Amino acid sequence: MNSHPSNTLLLFGATGDLARRMLLPSLYALHADGLIAKDLRIFGTARSGLNDAEYREMIGEALHEFLPEERKNAANIAQFLERLFYQPLDASKTEGFADLAEKLGDISSGMSIFLSTAPFLFEPTIKGLQSAGLAGDNVRIGLEKPLGNDFASSTEINDAVAAAFPEDRIFRIDHYLGKETVQNILALRFANMMFEPLWNAGGIDHVQITVSEVVGLEGRHGFYDDTGALRDMVQNHMLQLLAITAMEPPANYDATAIRDEKVKVLRSLRALDPAEVVTGQYEAGAVNGAAVEGYLTDLGDQSNTETFVALKAHVDNWRWQGVPFYLRTGKRLAERRSEVVIQFKDVPHSIFGDRSGKPIANRLVIRLQPEEYVRLQVMAKEPGLDRDGIVLREVPLDLSLTQAFASARRRIAYERLLLDLIEGDQTLFVRRDEVEAQWSWVDAIRKIWTDHAVAPKSYGAGSWGPSAAIALTERDGVSWHE
Ligand code: BG6
Repeated sequence: MNSHPSNTLLLFGATGDLARRMLLPSLYALHADGLIAKDLRIFGTARSGLNDAEYREMIGEALHEFLPEERKNAANIAQFLERLFYQPLDASKTEGFADLAEKLGDISSGMSIFLSTAPFLFEPTIKGLQSAGLAGDNVRIGLEKPLGNDFASSTEINDAVAAAFPEDRIFRIDHYLGKETVQNILALRFANMMFEPLWNAGGIDHVQITVSEVVGLEGRHGFYDDTGALRDMVQNHMLQLLAITAMEPPANYDATAIRDEKVKVLRSLRALDPAEVVTGQYEAGAVNGAAVEGYLTDLGDQSNTETFVALKAHVDNWRWQGVPFYLRTGKRLAERRSEVVIQFKDVPHSIFGDRSGKPIANRLVIRLQPEEYVRLQVMAKEPGLDRDGIVLREVPLDLSLTQAFASARRRIAYERLLLDLIEGDQTLFVRRDEVEAQWSWVDAIRKIWTDHAVAPKSYGAGSWGPSAAIALTERDGVSWHE
């Protein structure tokens, strides 16, 4: 693998929302902490006709707006802005790439590209890069979603990129993989002895994965309405969470071993039965005490796009036979929360009498956000002399990562992912075969919707989705973790 750190970073879409809100603030944080080389130059490119000074001014304002107060340091910001350069470019035309190459100058020490543009620009951009000699052996490329909107279109994009870059220089971003607690699932599973022997159909009853959001459309009307919750969240982030939770132990913590195991899980996903998926669309309601409009009003149009999806997935292999994975995600739900919940099985036999009640089965909650913690619910004896028999109570064994590692800086996902891209570590990036397995499974679900003319059920903003999502688990005797 090409893992020499690059000293040039080239951002496409450099004036866009993601760049201003996430990428440049992340790069600034890496700069401020001395984590990127002193000679790393950052080039932005987009259509706007800015010069270096104007771009620096724009990013200066973005840092001011998006950096947390305690991170702002005038001297550091001024130093950071000096790393920035800008070249206007219409990426749909090859002509401008020669000027871009000239502006970049010597890239013989390696260049990392971060592509965050509209999908229709992927192919022309790759061709342009190639035409100007900007796709050589020491260049790697990071690709931000959306990488297509179904298997066929993602294959087109992947083919176009593969024509210029081999897989070991392609870094497909799923920002969930950059989240601290997602990586912590690996540490929990594979750096401890106690979970893995139970981590299978023998010990686990079911798994729940929730990614709920309180935000609505956030001004992304066109994109979101063409995409919907299944493709926006399940196809990528949620399936990655599922894969990390369900995969076999990889032999090493490296890009090949980890991705080999994840893809096996993704390929083992059973095609869904139509009764195992519920979609919803929010109506007017209240979120965090404030009244909000319904989706159609937000959109200003009629639409059948789902803003919520809940489903029951099955991983068809030995380890997970008979263990449902319930997934749900949506906009305008009751609270912002991302978590993986592992519900263990009941003890095979309770030795305690009637007064104790049936021991409640253990549950492991891995909370990714907004808080970061791992909580294991265990049964304990209530203090007392127990004349009428032991009284049992469920108590949490808490590992608050925020508290346990209070002195460690919390980093946003893009800080890690940008650094990994610059340094050439692919472990937390998605390989082509994974993306393809994800799309195949998701396309089959969308086909069910088309074949059965499924329309989303409505739910009030601020709720946990349509009641059918509750029925989806309740008929198995399972309640969503709330
Ligand atoms: C993005 C989706 O990939 O993830 C957004 O396009 C969503 O719709 C976002 O809001 C959620 O990310 P996070 O990190 O806030 O959970």
